[in-house]
Amino acid sequence: MENVLSVRELHISVRGERPLPLVKNVSFDVEAGRCLGILGESGSGKSLTCGSLVGLLGSEYAVSGEVRFNGRNLLTANREELRRLRGAEISMILQNPMTSFDPLRTIESHILETLRAHGSVSRKEALAAGREMLARMRIEDPDGAMRRYPHQMSGGMLQRTMIGLALLLGPKLIVADEPTTALDSITRFEVVEEIRRMREECECAMIFVSHDLGVLASVADSVLVMHEGEVVEKGELRRVFASPRSEQARYLLGTRFSLIDRFRRMVRNEGGAPSRMDYAAASF
Ligand SMILES: Nc1ncnc2c1ncn2[C@@H]1O[C@H](COP(=O)(O)OP(=O)(O)OP(=O)(O)O)[C@@H](O)[C@H]1O
Ligand SMILES: [Mg+2]
Repeated sequence: MENVLSVRELHISVRGERPLPLVKNVSFDVEAGRCLGILGESGSGKSLTCGSLVGLLGSEYAVSGEVRFNGRNLLTANREELRRLRGAEISMILQNPMTSFDPLRTIESHILETLRAHGSVSRKEALAAGREMLARMRIEDPDGAMRRYPHQMSGGMLQRTMIGLALLLGPKLIVADEPTTALDSITRFEVVEEIRRMREECECAMIFVSHDLGVLASVADSVLVMHEGEVVEKGELRRVFASPRSEQARYLLGTRFSLIDRFRRMVRNEGGAPSRMDYAAASF
């Protein structure tokens, strides 16, 4: 499979008289149709890494290295090119859906904007596509949902809507930074199921950041473990979860997984998708 994304020697630092290095020498690839999970303690540089890929970091950060997306180096792309890529070819799904929606505009208005900013569809076509997307995301009463404002939806509904919006334009890469962390465990299960379904439907590549081992185990094919801004381990998820080589991966997996050895055995011996109970157990 060809690489949709290739990151080489990514360095991120805060500018200043004495630059403060935050992400150091990070390299990884994501192939079409595959999902790379990123695991690491708080502050290890996961969000900075994701944000730098699509030019979302502020000017206080200096970013160097190479981020090749379909062969093109995004670190040298201009703002307009990046703006066009975001949404159309690269979609971001963020932790708190509330912050990604404009509180003063309805869901319908967000759908129209997403579709019409990147293509020449009529209002009628855009509304039909939006309604269909909401139904696919199992939002009850899609017509009613279109007229609602973000605060009139539950966290789970809003996150499903954001995933649906992220998929509307058929992106080649989805970057999801802790998309389930702010949800309760039942809603999380539903959202993860939606993400799994979406991965089956689209051939896109995905980066999925999560603290939640159960969620990672169910969506990622390979994992990158970060520690203090560096990659300390990468490999196939099954291998890393079953026999982590780095001390940090052993620690991250061990502290929460020692109580749920069943889960680890399941990862090791195949055994199908984790159940709702497995998520609940792995996400305290
Ligand atoms: N402008 C800045 N000045 C100083 N330190 C910064 C700045 N921006 C980010 N950092 C630090 O960089 C580190 C990496 O941040 P990042 O948000 O990538 O962590 P993360 O792995 O996503 O953590 P979390 O799991 O909590 O989301 C953190 O320790 C953060 O405090
Ligand atoms: Mg983060």
